[in-house]
Amino acid sequence: MKLADNKATLSFSNGSPSVDLPVYHGSVGPDVVDIRKLYAQTGMFTYDPGFLSTAACQSAITYIDGDKGELLYRGYPIEQLATNCDYLETCHLLLYGELPNTDQKKDFVHRVTNHTMVNEQMQFFLRGFRRDAHPMAIMTGLVGALSAFYHDSTDINNPEHREIAAIRLIAKMPTLVAMAYKYTVGQPYMYPKNNLSYAGNFLHMMFATPCEEYKVNPVLERALDRIFILHADHEQNASTSTVRLCGSSGTNPFAAIAAGVACLWGPAHGGANEAALNMLGDIQKNGGVEKIGDFIKQVKDKNSGVKLMGFGHRVYKNYDPRAKLMQETCKEVLQEMGLENDPLFKLAMALEKIALEDDYFVSRKLYPNVDFYSGIVQRAIGIPVPLFTAIFALARTVGWIAQLNEMIGDPEYKIGRPRQLFTGSTPRDVKPMAQR
Ligand code: SDX
Repeated sequence: MKLADNKATLSFSNGSPSVDLPVYHGSVGPDVVDIRKLYAQTGMFTYDPGFLSTAACQSAITYIDGDKGELLYRGYPIEQLATNCDYLETCHLLLYGELPNTDQKKDFVHRVTNHTMVNEQMQFFLRGFRRDAHPMAIMTGLVGALSAFYHDSTDINNPEHREIAAIRLIAKMPTLVAMAYKYTVGQPYMYPKNNLSYAGNFLHMMFATPCEEYKVNPVLERALDRIFILHADHEQNASTSTVRLCGSSGTNPFAAIAAGVACLWGPAHGGANEAALNMLGDIQKNGGVEKIGDFIKQVKDKNSGVKLMGFGHRVYKNYDPRAKLMQETCKEVLQEMGLENDPLFKLAMALEKIALEDDYFVSRKLYPNVDFYSGIVQRAIGIPVPLFTAIFALARTVGWIAQLNEMIGDPEYKIGRPRQLFTGSTPRDVKPMAQR
């Protein structure tokens, strides 16, 4: 980051001495006012719950322009990556800062492919769950449990440990997600196959059985690979910030990623794809397109607590570029599966059209986000609704690791420890029981 010519001056109307604060430029996007010395100089904190105006770190990985609806991974527009690259190339880009050349890609794919199996003991963790456990409950447990198996790579400050832990996590997430699915349907686990692509291997582990040869559908394989690319990273979102804060204590990467999985589960975040599909299903059940008006009325009624899931974003105040790409993928998959007339897709398009013309949403700059269409395309691929967020976690693992490793590699990083505005009881004495 570069010190700007101008600086910020904080002055107080009560005559307290004003404070000059440095301003820094990044390479693109908003400047920052450096308040690190504010408390020492003024005895005051800043106050920003939800971090609406707070940059918690500097990063060179992902840039979002919410007003223009732009998303760049290491400077490359998501639209170009989603059409010209595959997920493992994108993983290489996010982790190392550059797209791989032919040899680098071959080596990276080989390393990931050869770490896709998990220790046979992992299956005994699954046995502790009920068969109807939510896959994200299972994943939160399994990812954390990985730290029990890789004592040779839990020192986050050792670059070799960070590297092998990154490869292991990227390689094993599909295996764990597929195991979580197979467990809930009572089918045997399918081992990874090294001759399949990353997305093809996941489809195989999900839908193959020992009883017959499973043929990967190339359209679904490409669609899933694109879904992984679109979900790979997204700047300092809630789960990435969780991973950074958790990792800042020096805990091992598996534990930090498990914290990210737990945070992503929330319906305001990664759980929105499951919630969006359930919302479309409910509207469909209650009359479909004809009843969209009633549903929109509910959403506008603050007391209803009903939100248009898959809409709105803290950063995007324009169309989420991932939603556009996801809608295209939706059309490709529905066509391949002979579901062009899928009622939920038609309902989603109708709902989007109405919302984009309704002043309630327009005035609040609420547009479809990545979660609005991702559920429909995953359902068309045959993925059960409760597994959608686990697949989001699978895809986001590379982003979490890249951001964690960037933080640990930053000589300026410290353990994260926010302060507060205290509004509770001032000091008071404990009274004997008889006087309470
Ligand atoms: C993801 O951060 C990331 O980058 C996340 C993510 C990633 O890749 O990591 O992009 C993935 O989490 C996408 C978001 C998925 N969540 C949803 O689709 C759930 C529905 N969306 C909302 O919960 C909400 O839009 C958030 C949580 C996404 C953003 O909330 P903000 O930024 O805190 O905005 P807000 O709640 O202050 O909303 C501003 C106004 C409010 O109305 P007023 O009080 O001004 O009258 O818009 C309203 C909100 O009530 N609003 C919605 C709405 N989202 C916001 N009203 C109806 N439906 C919605 N979906």
